[in-house]
Amino acid sequence: MEILDGKKISNQIKEEIAAEVAQMKERGEKVPHLAAVIVGNDGASMTYVNSKVRSCEKVGFESTLIRLPSTTSELELLKKIDQLNQDDDIDGFIVQLPLPEQIDTQKVIMAIDPDKDVDGFHPTNFGKMALDMSTFIPATPFGILELLERYNVETKGKHTVVIGRSHIVGRPMSILMGRKGWPGNSTVTLTHSHTKNITQIISQADIVISALGVPHFLKAEMVKDDAVVIDVGITRVPDESREKGYYLAGDVDFENVSKKTSFITPVPGGVGPMTIAMLLKNTLLAREQHRGEL
Ligand code: GUN
Repeated sequence: MEILDGKKISNQIKEEIAAEVAQMKERGEKVPHLAAVIVGNDGASMTYVNSKVRSCEKVGFESTLIRLPSTTSELELLKKIDQLNQDDDIDGFIVQLPLPEQIDTQKVIMAIDPDKDVDGFHPTNFGKMALDMSTFIPATPFGILELLERYNVETKGKHTVVIGRSHIVGRPMSILMGRKGWPGNSTVTLTHSHTKNITQIISQADIVISALGVPHFLKAEMVKDDAVVIDVGITRVPDESREKGYYLAGDVDFENVSKKTSFITPVPGGVGPMTIAMLLKNTLLAREQHRGEL
């Protein structure tokens, strides 16, 4: 069993990006600038966004954090997005999800300039991804592809089972694993809450990608020997004995499942850090494209 070490690989990617930024500075060029918008003060979302901003600083990017109250109206958020679209200093930005219920998430995503949509959530970018065109790939699926690539995990002809059809992870992942090329060329089954015989389907998988958000859902008896297991779940489970009052649990019963697998991602330290590294990579790409336009 080999661990797909997201912490290590994400640090390598950040070092690669930092080296490129240092060269940009040497040439007297403007460095990439990422803005992040967060509405409300959900603990997990704040942690993710703060981590994204800190990572920007680490690689030498400029960053701007925009915090809006949970009572923000849809119109106010759309105005802020318009400002960011117009601001030539900003190369890319994200609006952290989920949003409060008074705001229509799809409307917000549609308002983002596709050229600045470093999350790859806009239908233009999502469509390009599905058509194998060059675009921003959503950071979590992009991070999973990068891990598979850097560990030389064979995906061609394999049966990949994706658990969960979210717009952020499951749906794009199912498209990417079936694309021509590597990582890709898999035969993909996308499973969800209405899937019948889900355990039987999972037991046939060469590669399992779980993005369900149910702690320890995936048990050892459900996966076949030598399967590759990617755990996207990251749930805060209340635990008074811990300093923070919770611990982070993946979808996978790591202790027992890992004994059967060829490759597996841990939680934390697997997919999570890769997501941030790939967001930085998309922002660097946005800067390069933006410079070409100016
Ligand atoms: N919420 C959970 N994951 C993500 C992500 O990758 N991007 C944004 N914007 N919100 C998220």
